[in-house]
Amino acid sequence: MNDRLKWKPDGGRTETLELKGQSVTYRAFRNIPYVEHPVCPEHQKMNIFVPEEYFRGESVNGLTVETAPIFLPNAVGAYAAGRADAPGMNFRSWGRDQINALFVALQKGFVVAAPASRGRNSVKESGETAGAAPACIVDLKAAVRFLRHNRDVIPGNTERIISDGTSAGGALSALLGVSGNSADYEPYLREIGAAEERDDIFAAICFCPIMNLEHADMAYEWLLDGLNDYHSLRFRVNEEGTVVGEPYAGTLTPEQEQASRELRAMFVEYVNGLHLCVNGTQELSLDAQGDGTFKDNLVRYLMASAQRALDEGADLSAAPYVTVEGNRVTGFDLRAHMERLQRMKPVPAFDDWEGISAENELFQTETERFRHFTEFGLAHDTGGRSLAEPELIHVMNPMEYADGQNSDVARHFRIRYGTTDCHTSWAIPMIFAETLKQKDPSLDVDFQLAWDKSHCGDYDMDDMFAWAKEISLAD
Ligand code: DHB
Repeated sequence: MNDRLKWKPDGGRTETLELKGQSVTYRAFRNIPYVEHPVCPEHQKMNIFVPEEYFRGESVNGLTVETAPIFLPNAVGAYAAGRADAPGMNFRSWGRDQINALFVALQKGFVVAAPASRGRNSVKESGETAGAAPACIVDLKAAVRFLRHNRDVIPGNTERIISDGTSAGGALSALLGVSGNSADYEPYLREIGAAEERDDIFAAICFCPIMNLEHADMAYEWLLDGLNDYHSLRFRVNEEGTVVGEPYAGTLTPEQEQASRELRAMFVEYVNGLHLCVNGTQELSLDAQGDGTFKDNLVRYLMASAQRALDEGADLSAAPYVTVEGNRVTGFDLRAHMERLQRMKPVPAFDDWEGISAENELFQTETERFRHFTEFGLAHDTGGRSLAEPELIHVMNPMEYADGQNSDVARHFRIRYGTTDCHTSWAIPMIFAETLKQKDPSLDVDFQLAWDKSHCGDYDMDDMFAWAKEISLAD
C-alpha cells in the first residue's frame, strides 16, 4: 500500500544561493506530491532541501545526515493556501527584506521540508471549493506522514520534525503540535490518500498564532475594551498567491460598543472556567471588571519582555508605560500601552456579523462562502449565514487538543507574540502556553512576548535554531 508515496531521492539539483553577502549550497528536490489523491495538486506537494555537505558525509553545525532535524515551515497567511516555499527572501508582505528561515535553516544544517497546503481560496479544477476547514491542517499532517513514510530515504531525523509558522500559519503549527495522531482527522486524511503513518511532531514554533477562534472575539474585547477607533485590514489573495491586507478604518457603533461589553463579560467567564494555575498553585482568574491574577500574569510576561529589551540595550524612554528603576523593569501600565497602540480590529474582531472575515471563509461550504463559528456571531448575523458544525470548529482549535487526551502532543513549543501586534489578543497565546504547561508540566513550553515586534515571524532565527538544535540533540 501507499507505494506511490515512496519517494526516490533522485533528480535533486545542487543549487547555491547568495543573499545579502551570505551563501548556502544545498540539494533541492521540488514539487513532490505528498498524497496519493490530491484534490489541488498545486497545494498538496512539497519541496525538500538538504545541505549539500550531507552528500559528502560531512557535518554542518554539529549535525549530520542522521541527526539533522527536519524543519517544516508552512507558508500559510490569513488561512489562505500556502506555497511550497524555497530558500530566498521572505515572501510575506512584512518581510520581503528579510532572508527567510529556510535559507538560515540550511546554513545551520537542518533538512528543510516545505509543504504547500490548501487554504480558504483553494478550488478544484472543476471549480468546486477545496480549501474549507480542516483542509489546511489535514494537508500539513499528510506532509508529516509522507516524511515518516520515507524515513529510510529522507535525509535527517523524521523523529525530529519541527514545524514553523506565522499568524494563521502559527496557529496551524500549534495545531500540528498538539493534535498528533488524533483520530479526528483520519477520514480527511484517508480521503486524500495520505500515507498510513503517525503524524505527531517533535516541536512546534508558533509566531503570533491566530488561534482559538471561538474565544478570540471575547479575548480581543477584554484587551481593547473602551478603545473605539479601529484601523484594520481586509485580507485579499493577489494573483501571485500572496495575502495582502487592505486597510479600512472607523469608529465602533453604539451596537458594537454594547457587544464589546458583552464579549468582555463572556471572556471573564471563559477564563474563570479554565481554572488555569501557574506554578501549580496560583489560579489565574478575573473579576467582573476584567482585573485579577490572569491580567497580572500577562503583565508579568510584558515586564519580562521589557526587561529583556532593556538588558539588550534598548532605550525604553519612548515607552512611558514601562517603569524602570535603575536597570530593572518594575512596572508596566497595560492600559496606557493599549491606548498608545489603539484597536486594530472592529467588533467583533473575527466572527464578522457580515461574515466577511478570513476566518468566516475558512468555514465555508460549497454553497455558503462564509459561515460563523460562534453563537454570538450567529446571533448578530446580518444576512442569513449559518454556524459551522461543532466538529469542524473543534478540529481547527489547538486548545481542544492541548490536554493530550486524544492526541500525542509535541514535547516542545516555542511561542512568540509581538508587544505591538493587535491582530489578536495577547491573552490567546498566553492561555495556550499556560494550558500546555498545566496539563503536562514536563513539556518544554517557551512562551515570550517579543518586545516591539508587530505582526511578523522568524525574527530571532539565531536563537530559534539554537533552541531547535539543542532540543533535538538532547532528547
Ligand atoms: C492573519 C492575520 C489576521 O489578522 C487574521 O485574522 C488571520 C490571519 C495572518 O496574518 O495570517
